[in-house]
Amino acid sequence: MNFRLTALPMADLSDELEVIIVVDNDTKHRFVQDKKLLKKAGFKGGQDETCLLLGEDRLYVGADSLKSANIRTAAAMAIKALKGTSYESVKVATYTNEGCTYTLRAMVEGFILGAYSFETYKSKQNENKLIDISISLEEYAGLDIDIEKASEVVHKAQIIADATNFTRDIVNTTPDDCYPDVMASIAEGLAEDTGLKCNILKPKKLRKEKMETLLAVARASRHKPRVIHLKHKPKNPKCVVTLVGKGLTYDSGGLSLKPADYMVTMKSDKSGGSAVLGIMKAVAELDLPIEVHGFVGAVENMIGGDAYKPDDVLVAKNGKTIEIRNTDAEGRLVLADTLCYAQQEVKADYLFDFATLTGASVVAVGHYTSSIMGKNKEVQDLVVKEAHNAGELATALDFNPYLKKTIKSEIADICNISNTRYGGAITAGQFLSEFIDKDHEDKWAHIDIAGPAFVEHAWGENPHGASGAGVRLMVKLLEKLAK
Ligand code: BES
Ligand code: ZN
Ligand code: ZN
Repeated sequence: MNFRLTALPMADLSDELEVIIVVDNDTKHRFVQDKKLLKKAGFKGGQDETCLLLGEDRLYVGADSLKSANIRTAAAMAIKALKGTSYESVKVATYTNEGCTYTLRAMVEGFILGAYSFETYKSKQNENKLIDISISLEEYAGLDIDIEKASEVVHKAQIIADATNFTRDIVNTTPDDCYPDVMASIAEGLAEDTGLKCNILKPKKLRKEKMETLLAVARASRHKPRVIHLKHKPKNPKCVVTLVGKGLTYDSGGLSLKPADYMVTMKSDKSGGSAVLGIMKAVAELDLPIEVHGFVGAVENMIGGDAYKPDDVLVAKNGKTIEIRNTDAEGRLVLADTLCYAQQEVKADYLFDFATLTGASVVAVGHYTSSIMGKNKEVQDLVVKEAHNAGELATALDFNPYLKKTIKSEIADICNISNTRYGGAITAGQFLSEFIDKDHEDKWAHIDIAGPAFVEHAWGENPHGASGAGVRLMVKLLEKLAK
């Protein structure tokens, strides 16, 4: 999709179709040229409602307000409404929220995110005809918009939405086509394309690093594990940020096998790691003036004669012993070692981990929202705030002093599952906190994306399947740190 920003008014642009966003049901606005036809068609201008007037070559879409979130999904719905048509170029005006260009950014993101579809496994792929979008600087409220600023905003939006789609592609890829070594190759390819540095740890090195819990989870799979380390190191960075992702390329549950219905979609258990790859892509392309390290623990959790077992006791990289009572609580084991390794390699100012860690997070906050945990309220709140600014949903789940007891073990230092059936998302977060060292305790937030990472229906600007959850959230947060 190509974007062209122009100072020419809408009327002077020759693109095949015009997209008009009807804001707050205001069909009297000067942009609305087809009042009678819209009335006939029953178009009210409600959020995400579309009306394609083929005879006029105009597409109307409703948005409740000029706020970014409303404009983003409206733009996505507009693009979706054009799927299957033969329009190759469209024009659209500039929408800002009283001059604030977040809304323009959201519109461009919405177009790119809404156009996404995953068709790798379709024998007949739908060709997306629409390639050119002209954005006129003619502004909704008649404001003057600086073209240089606007073009920077459009460029950024493209990078961020493309990175989100990049993550979606990895997550949607089947477990037979995307296993740990493939994730490592994707990271290496990304490094080659963007100038990021990349280091891949294979089993020999993982053993040397004493990452025995990660290796135990990986043991029954024919696909050997990998730990990926991507680095973005600008000169004189403003701060150092470490990202860690759960990259379970498949989670069968291991010997504590998942029931059939729960196993389907577990290709998406690599969403955290895939988000880290997408974030690193955006960080490199935006060339943010902060040092960012992305670590991914890429592992497949399978069954077999060599599988790790309930009743095993594993020793994590930091020396803590873990009683295994359920091999389906594998993500925390992989993250434990990957977090320890990441903290050993990098002394960071902020440490964030991304994981489809618990079904309990989905039960607690639903499908569209990520759960944010951590020991430092400010860091936790920062993540929640920037998630909302980026158009993602996130809510804080607070730790408390009683949680530690829930993961107590009679025979080891801790247990990999809690002794209560309630609060599974925070008890899993509590488990991870055992692997955060003193120096990083106040700098860490755990982001459980189990809800939004993969949803089997389209929602807002997100398609059926992978959403790329975490990418927009973290890029927005990193942009803030870079200021
Ligand atoms: N990958 C799952 C969590 C998950 C569930 C992600 C549903 C996305 C959607 C994780 O490894 C897991 O299986 N967790 C268990 C933990 C339990 C055994 C304590 C769970 O949530 O049931
Ligand atoms: Zn599991
Ligand atoms: Zn898992």
